[in-house]
Formats: sequence, structure tokens, C-alpha cells
Amino acid sequence: MMAKVNSKPLILNGRLVADEVLKNTASEIELLKSQGKRVPGLAVILVGDNPASCIYVKNKEIAAKKLGICSEIHYMQTNVSESEVINLINLLNLNKKIDGILVQLPLPVHINTEKIINSTDPNKDVDSLHPYNLGKLMRGEKTLTPCTPQGVIEILNHYSIDITGMSAVIIGRSTLVGKPLSMLLLGKNATVTIAHSKTNNLEELARSADLLISAIGKPKLITKNWIKPDAIVIDVGINRIFENGISKLVGDVDYDNVSSVCKAITPVPGGVGPVTIAMLMSNTLKAYKERDKVK
Ligand SMILES: NC(=O)c1ccc[n+]([C@@H]2O[C@H](COP(=O)([O-])OP(=O)(O)OC[C@H]3O[C@@H](n4cnc5c(N)ncnc54)[C@H](OP(=O)(O)O)[C@@H]3O)[C@@H](O)[C@H]2O)c1
Repeated sequence: MMAKVNSKPLILNGRLVADEVLKNTASEIELLKSQGKRVPGLAVILVGDNPASCIYVKNKEIAAKKLGICSEIHYMQTNVSESEVINLINLLNLNKKIDGILVQLPLPVHINTEKIINSTDPNKDVDSLHPYNLGKLMRGEKTLTPCTPQGVIEILNHYSIDITGMSAVIIGRSTLVGKPLSMLLLGKNATVTIAHSKTNNLEELARSADLLISAIGKPKLITKNWIKPDAIVIDVGINRIFENGISKLVGDVDYDNVSSVCKAITPVPGGVGPVTIAMLMSNTLKAYKERDKVK
């Protein structure tokens, strides 16, 4: 890992990492095109009009278009029935031009999220939430890996941060982030602890971490008292707050405060978020290659 040259931490720039992933993905797609082959296809389903979800879906579409991925967004009304969503997924499962299917979460409460995830063809499950893919991840087998946890790994890899033997504490135990990330960190030989809202002495536990990852959803909860000097801090949280009448995005980590003690840190925005989108594009290409057996 690069040495810290002054008291400022190394800023783990997610936009740089994302650019690299997107560049590699784009050049593979260019090659497919030049060979006259079909390009990868991504279908995104958005149910309702949750403002954050609308922005995420738009950003995914922009990224896909830039890369030459054929993307389609299926907008469904908030009051759509569960079976209508499943019917659409069944059609997309059979659609030969679609390699990746992503259902933007959260879904309205009358729709059972598990049923929706389970109805997606695991080979097209580019968010990697299907039990089949999560099971393979658990077993350490090659599979599509969830975008945000894989994004964290890409950041560590990009900055050549070797976490072998490190004590890694993840705060947050969701199926989307915390649990799959724990498997990926284990695979990189860290000693992993997962904490959550019922963890005793959370601050003390966090302070024991060489690598602290927060995926909580509580703005600026983590301050420098939680940080072991020279720890690496990855902030997955994205929270919208109003400060002095201005709306802005912040992480779970109080960035300015924590920066004075840690060795490296991801900003919000510009940290894990952009890499998550890049991983979705990379997963779509991966799913394409697996389906068409293009090596
Ligand atoms: N950067 C990205 O691309 C990206 C992608 C996905 C999510 N996110 C962000 O990451 C955050 C987490 O997302 P998620 O989907 O994993 O959320 P989630 O399903 O709501 O899970 C939050 C986790 O945080 C724990 N938690 C909540 N309050 C806590 C507290 N005060 N102390 C300790 N643990 C606490 C919860 O514990 P319990 O299990 O005990 O309730 C839960 O395990 C959100 O801000 C989300 O917007 C970012």
C-alpha cells in the first residue's frame, strides 16, 4: 500500500476505481462489436417513484448507454401486483437479448422482495441477491458477486491494500451489503466481525478494527473516537441531510473528523457509490460471457 506522506489520509477515490472498471468493460464490449457479435443487455425494473431509486436507475442507464450495453428500463406503477412483476421477470428470463436483470430495491410493501428475487434467473441475477448465487459465494465458488461488496474489494485492490491477517469490522448485516461483504473479506484472508444495531460496546469493537467498513444508513454516526489510529475506513452509507438549508449526501462516517486519525478513507459521495454502478456493468458483461460462452 502507498505510504501516507503527511497527516492527511489517503483518499480512496471511488471515481478513479470506477473509471478503470468501466474502461475495461467498455473495451471488451468494443471488441464484441468489432467482431459483429451481440452486445450485452441489461433490464432494470423500477416499481413506483421513490426519488432516490429514480436517480439510481437513471445513473445505471447512463452508465450502460456509455458502454454500449443495450439497456431497457421497465417502469411499473406503485400499485402493480406482485404477480405482474413476476410475469415481467419471467419474460425477461426468457429474453435472449437480456443478460442481466435488476429489480431496483426497495419495493413497495405489498410486494414480497424475496419472491421477486427468487423468480430471477440466477444466471441473469446481476445484483447477485438470488439464494443460488449467495450460496455459491458462501462456498467460495465462482459466481456473480453483489455489486456493492465487490465494489469495496475493487477499491482495496486498486490501492493495493493487502488485508491478509487484518481485523475487519463491518457494521451492518444486510443481505445486500454486510453479509456478502464478510464472505469476500474472508476470501481475502481478513479476520471478519459483523456488527449491527444490537452489538454491545460497538464503539470499542470498531476501535479494534484495522479495516472498518460501515453500511448502516445513519449520517455521520462514526466519529474519530471509533477509529483505531491508522485504520482504513470504507464508508458504504449514503444519507441525504439538510445542512444550513442545503441538501447534501453524507456517509455514516463523519469524514472531516475521522480523516484526522485514519490512514485511508473513502469519501461520500465519490467512494463506494460509483464503483457499485461500475460493478453492475461489469457483472452484466460477466453474465453475458457465461451465457454465450464467449471467452
Ligand atoms: N454505496 C452504495 O452503492 C450503496 C449500496 C447499497 C447501500 N448503500 C447504503 O448503505 C447503507 C446500508 O444499506 P443496507 O441496504 O445494508 O441497509 P439496511 O438493510 O437498512 O441495513 C442496515 C444495517 O445497519 C445496522 N444498523 C442500523 N443502525 C445501527 C446503529 N445505530 N448501530 C449499528 N448498526 C446499525 C442494522 O442493524 P440491524 O440488522 O440490527 O437492524 C442493519 O444491519 C445505507 O445508507 C444505504 O443507502 C450504499
